[in-house]
Amino acid sequence: MLFEPIVTGGCRSYLIGCADSCAAAVIDPEISQTDRYLGLAAREGLRIHYLIDTHTHADHFSATHELARRLQVPVVMHRASPAPFVDMRLNDGEMLVVGKLRLQAMHTPGHTRDSMCLRVEDRLLTGDTLLIGATGRTDLPTGDPEALYDSLFRCILKLDPTLKVFPAHDYGGRGESTLARELAENPRLRQHERAMFVETMLSLNLTMPTHITEALRTNMSGGKTVEQMLAEAAAAVPFMSLAELKARVEAGDTELVVLDVRERDAYESGHVPGARLLPRGQLELRVNQDLPDPTQRILTCCELGRISTLAAATLRQLGFTRAVALDGGMKAWREAGYPLRSGVEP
Ligand SMILES: [Fe+2]
Repeated sequence: MLFEPIVTGGCRSYLIGCADSCAAAVIDPEISQTDRYLGLAAREGLRIHYLIDTHTHADHFSATHELARRLQVPVVMHRASPAPFVDMRLNDGEMLVVGKLRLQAMHTPGHTRDSMCLRVEDRLLTGDTLLIGATGRTDLPTGDPEALYDSLFRCILKLDPTLKVFPAHDYGGRGESTLARELAENPRLRQHERAMFVETMLSLNLTMPTHITEALRTNMSGGKTVEQMLAEAAAAVPFMSLAELKARVEAGDTELVVLDVRERDAYESGHVPGARLLPRGQLELRVNQDLPDPTQRILTCCELGRISTLAAATLRQLGFTRAVALDGGMKAWREAGYPLRSGVEP
């Protein structure tokens, strides 16, 4: 078995492959690491057959939907998952066959209603049900401390204690453990009494994960994150540096149309000399009258360089094949001490 943990901050995902057949699966992939999974699989000579989420993540952005679209392979989750894009829904006790490997699913609700653990050979992928030195929290949507108690004490902890534990998170950087070690050392598991365990879980008083709204929105719908939207736009346009634009402005380049896509008040308080105003919110409405020549060389700029990237991508979709975006924004332009003009252009 090829077993490759991918660590990003506190998140852990896993590439698991069958060395004989070269079939593989990715467990709990994260959107920022999509190229890494594909690169690792290619390096190891593996073909990914399944993209598996152990549960609906509230604290990271799942890449299952995006990778499934690219690879044309199924997204796998527990039957209770609310995500409409799940292609294969597992019930407790069912297995996925990955080459010669068998990934056995166990429904372990508690952290979320759709949580499952996966057992493969001598390893247990515990998702957020059992962490090293901790357990998943139960205060996020569909969390239930009573259910977590049952999942732990009546299911997971009754398995072979020599099983190695691989969770979806490890905030302490402890990496690897076994069920036996967790039984001996995990402070949350000392509460063998149901009521005590539930009380402990209810009194943790944890702060909400950052980006929880966006994580739940995208992970439950298959929609895109704002970062994904920006990354896709950035991949579709060339950029020009601040220094290159400054040189062109100072040289009196009349071929390049600098299009400031901020709102009017921001534009009038200081813009690149010669820049024209066309706010992003009005781009599609005014493009035909303001930019009649689709062969024009256009450079978009905004305050931080993000909205201008979206605007340049939109212009390219509209047929302005020479639209580029400024690498940076007016904030950086001002901070660099580059020339500004206020008010309206003559
Ligand atoms: Fe989680």
